Amino acid sequence: MAIHVTGSHMHDKVINDKIFKAGAAAKVACERFGTENVVDASIGVLLDDNEKLVSLSTVEKVFRNLPMSEITNYAPIAGLPDYLENVLDVVFRDCRPDAYAKALATAGGTGAIHHAVWNYTDIGDSILTSDWYWGPYQIVAEAFLRKLETFTMFDENRRFNTEAFRVKVEELQAKQTNTFIILNTPAHNPMGYSLDDDEWDGVIEVIKNAAKNKEKNIILLVDIAYIAYCGDQHDCRTFMKKFSGLPENVMVIIAYSMSKGYTLYGQRAGAIVGISSSRAAIEEFDSVNNYLCRATWSNINRSAMDILNIIHDDKGLTEQIETERDGYYQMLRRRSDVFLAEAKAINMPVMPYVSGFFMSVPAKDPEFACEKLFEDNVFTVPMMGGLRIAICGVPFQKLKIMAERMVKVVHLTR
Ligand SMILES: Cc1ncc(COP(=O)(O)O)c(C=O)c1O
Repeated sequence: MAIHVTGSHMHDKVINDKIFKAGAAAKVACERFGTENVVDASIGVLLDDNEKLVSLSTVEKVFRNLPMSEITNYAPIAGLPDYLENVLDVVFRDCRPDAYAKALATAGGTGAIHHAVWNYTDIGDSILTSDWYWGPYQIVAEAFLRKLETFTMFDENRRFNTEAFRVKVEELQAKQTNTFIILNTPAHNPMGYSLDDDEWDGVIEVIKNAAKNKEKNIILLVDIAYIAYCGDQHDCRTFMKKFSGLPENVMVIIAYSMSKGYTLYGQRAGAIVGISSSRAAIEEFDSVNNYLCRATWSNINRSAMDILNIIHDDKGLTEQIETERDGYYQMLRRRSDVFLAEAKAINMPVMPYVSGFFMSVPAKDPEFACEKLFEDNVFTVPMMGGLRIAICGVPFQKLKIMAERMVKVVHLTR
């Protein structure tokens, strides 16, 4: 019998992190065979076509000019007051919904997801997301004694499956007080899909219908981790306007991350943004998230919040960062266009891609296909239905070879 020293809720909790496993294997392969002979499509950070980590120069300039006291000092528990205002501008831009809204600083987007799950679900609840999803959703759910359930993301036309979504929302609503939903859009990880306005209308209709039951609440968490690289920054936010005037038992929460948009992955900064028609619900949101910040990390990285504030308040810097981001959006576009063209030429299906860091290729036995690709020095991440490739980190010149090696394994089974 296994002997545990932990509390019973942590027995047998082990992270099987396939992303870092693939990344570590790629590193070993690079040392053995040379970087030029290895395709590492595992980790979600931006690398340029020389495989160097991208640091936005606007951010670097502002960061290096911060006084030491701003780097080392504590911040208020909820975050710097200016940051809490400015981050609302950065999240919504010109698509602010007509509703109460409040932000608190969190340790990355992960911190926002952590807070939302703990504060808005009960022990034993199920959380709903799409069947292709970012693995940590499940880890956060299970660490807090919740479960993760999924709905089929696409219908036969490769469009968001509103009907499957509705069925699962109704099913969860029948058994728990809060129906907690995570949608990762725009630029979904692992697929790069973004719901369009019609698909969003379908989602809102399902939620409004469910909200007719006033005994129950609907919590919609929208994870926008990749929004900075979605092309037109107005067009990819129009869905946010749809959060205006929702019923008072609907709480929309946006998980915002500075990791990608500011290339500040390791600085651990982001925000949880609550949106509601109810002033009381937003006051409660503020209070419980403050409380949980104190209980979790106390306060977050002050200098990252300064960086957002300084860039936000300076028109020139704002324009500069926009131009830089647009350049990297174009780089991702070139990579995805080439990969899609290669895949088409060799008859390899790719899941619907709109924008972002990742694409996915369906595979019969993803774990096995992934192992086979390791042997061929291509490092991808197995997901439930296929292989995730992080095009953010694969240089242009390696895309063709990656597609050619992938097509040899995606149909294989053990
Ligand atoms: C889908 C998704 N959500 C949220 C995050 C949060 O990232 P961070 O905690 O670094 O802000 C990531 C990062 O990889 C992600 O892929």
